[in-house]
Amino acid sequence: MRATAVANANLALVKYWGKRDEKLILPQHGSISLTLQGLETRTSVTFDRTLAHDDVLVNGKPVPPAGRVLGLLDLVRGMAGSDCRARVESENSFPTAVGLASSAAAFAALALAASRAAGLFLDQPGLSRLARQGSGSACRSIYGGFAEWLPGHRPDGSDSFAEPVAPEEHWDLPVLIALVRSGAKEVSSAQGMARSVATSPFYPAWREQAAKDLNLVRQAIARRDLALLGRVAEENAMRMHAVAMAAEPPTLYWSPGTVAVLEKVRSLRRQGLEVYPSMDAGPHVHLLTSRESVAALRVELLALPEVSEVRLSGPGPGVRLLDVETP
Ligand code: DP6
Repeated sequence: MRATAVANANLALVKYWGKRDEKLILPQHGSISLTLQGLETRTSVTFDRTLAHDDVLVNGKPVPPAGRVLGLLDLVRGMAGSDCRARVESENSFPTAVGLASSAAAFAALALAASRAAGLFLDQPGLSRLARQGSGSACRSIYGGFAEWLPGHRPDGSDSFAEPVAPEEHWDLPVLIALVRSGAKEVSSAQGMARSVATSPFYPAWREQAAKDLNLVRQAIARRDLALLGRVAEENAMRMHAVAMAAEPPTLYWSPGTVAVLEKVRSLRRQGLEVYPSMDAGPHVHLLTSRESVAALRVELLALPEVSEVRLSGPGPGVRLLDVETP
């Protein structure tokens, strides 16, 4: 059977940074994100008895299947009681070469496509738990709009999945993505967060702060309060990067362009523009802003020599099925 699903990337407003279980991908604390419109991964999975091993094609090119992809396929085979191998074909609507690749979109799409191709009908918490075991942030991309990952406390991870906070229609919140010129990423988020948990002296403070930030971000979303959401999301992002910078070895995800955008944001705010930056484990900057500020902000960002491209996004949809073919 073959199934095709599409999922979107997400921007963490309160970030997931640290695991308590590396194998099951269980987090140290909760997180909240916004699923992003336009940044999509489309994935088809075909279970085929004639295949000797799992095959993976990304943007039309065969790639050696990553351990986490094989792991997720094995979980699906286990649930479906099958030993059939799979062909996985995945395409991104966004440029992977510039470092915008999203494991969240990839694993959310893979979880839905693989489970349906195996004849399984998982509910949303079940899909979220499955996607989580591919990449933690993927558990939130199951839902459109705002979603919260409940960390859970059971050792088997059965209570660790995301749930919806507010749908995409709730808030017309523009997000500009400034792509800054940079080299290849050296430290994955998985590595960076493992180092932070193990060695950053700021880690305990980070975990405590996350609980406070979650409360404030929930309130800000309910009230559509950009000033509150922006302030907390910006502080949360800066603190996550500070935790990583204080780890051994020190881990810096920024490039000069990241700092150039942060400085520009400060000067634009002095001129009255409402804009708040957030960076995930990479150099690019997501900017939360108001509809009135989008045009001026885009012009100012594109004027920076370190910025190669600016994309407009906002609240986007959750994972969805495009097609199922039965033999
Ligand atoms: C900074 O979900 O990529 O984007 O679970 O190891 O796959 P793994 O990590 P990943 O980490 C995302 C880190 C982040 C913050 C976030 O999305 O919450």
